[in-house]
Amino acid sequence: MMSKLYQDTVSRFEQYVMPTYAPKQLFVRGEGAKLYDDEGVEFLDFAAGISVCNLGHCNPRVTDAIREQAGKLVHVSNLYMNELMPRLAEKLVKESFDGKAFFCNSGGEANEGMIKFARKYGNAHGGRNEIITMENSFHGRTLATLAATGRAKYRKGFEPDVPGFKQVPFNDFEAVKNAVTGKTCAVMLEMVQGEGGILPADTEYLKKLRAFCDEKDILLLCDEVQCGMGRIGTRFAYQSFGVQPDALSMAKAIANGLPMGGFIVRRKFADTLGLGTHASTFGGTALACAAALAVQEAFDQDGVLENCREQGAYLMAKLAEIGKKYPFVQTVRGRGLMIGVVLDRPAAGVQTLCLKRRLVTLTAGETVLRLLPPLTITRAEADLALERIAGALEEFNETEVKK
Ligand SMILES: Cc1ncc(COP(=O)(O)O)c(C=O)c1O
Repeated sequence: MMSKLYQDTVSRFEQYVMPTYAPKQLFVRGEGAKLYDDEGVEFLDFAAGISVCNLGHCNPRVTDAIREQAGKLVHVSNLYMNELMPRLAEKLVKESFDGKAFFCNSGGEANEGMIKFARKYGNAHGGRNEIITMENSFHGRTLATLAATGRAKYRKGFEPDVPGFKQVPFNDFEAVKNAVTGKTCAVMLEMVQGEGGILPADTEYLKKLRAFCDEKDILLLCDEVQCGMGRIGTRFAYQSFGVQPDALSMAKAIANGLPMGGFIVRRKFADTLGLGTHASTFGGTALACAAALAVQEAFDQDGVLENCREQGAYLMAKLAEIGKKYPFVQTVRGRGLMIGVVLDRPAAGVQTLCLKRRLVTLTAGETVLRLLPPLTITRAEADLALERIAGALEEFNETEVKK
């Protein structure tokens, strides 16, 4: 029997919210890797709001920073300064590569800005404005980022596509080489494809791409919206591969749940977007910056990245063991705590069976059970999740596969 609050919420949702989502569960509170429904039932969260609450729900550092800043100054617009935004830019640049940052509010907006940067540079250097992106990629739901996204199903019904994008197979260097023309200004990719099914790039491929882009004066753009911010065990995803992009976009976990996005551009290109050429009212607002600075502090002081690597390796090894029992589990892949259990059939059924066991998970690319827990999970939480996933796979085998 569902609670009154649950029923009321569903009813309001159906009546007043556009039907673009089909949410499955109501939560009213979160703490670390735990989520609670309105009757106090505890769930283990292996989705982290799709890699947003990377430090866990209501992380005390972030909550305190938000509380304090909310009582001091929330927003003044970018026509004036708050002291935190340049401070955050400095921190992110010092942790990545020398350059400059721009802040906005979401991943789609961050990519949109990065695309504008690439076009501005390319147009000024030989009238080039085409961007090569990857099949299976996901870059957002705005019109330009949809055109960049390598999965046609998201674009259906929204034609005409924004021109200037061309998709090639991922991890195929020759395909990029063959697609480049005199009009190409950039190559854009996720170093680990998220929505596409947790597919890491090959390091050799990235190295070749980097050298090729340098040779041709083509920008290498990295979408770190999902795979960045510690998710794969390094603060920035490119650091796991040792190949530096010319620009990277970030969002999701940057402020552990407050809406924020941004992109960093190498110093060499950093003044391409000049005065008045790009803007965002809420971008870099004091409140979001305070939260983002607290996130960086946690990376510096709380052993978050080490824990991510340790728990990630543990989970991957154990999941591979569990998966061996079931022929319908093809492989387990990923990096850090960005993990995909790849099935030979749709993964939604397993996700539902996990939720039944109070484990919140995600799917990706239809056949992949996607696990994105907070980077702060304990070994005990990892073990609990493994137990629930094992139970879900067993039930799936009994009720779906053998059927
Ligand atoms: C790699 C990647 N880029 C961009 C986006 C879009 O981000 P947002 O939903 O914040 O606009 C996502 C969202 O899932 C993503 O995974």
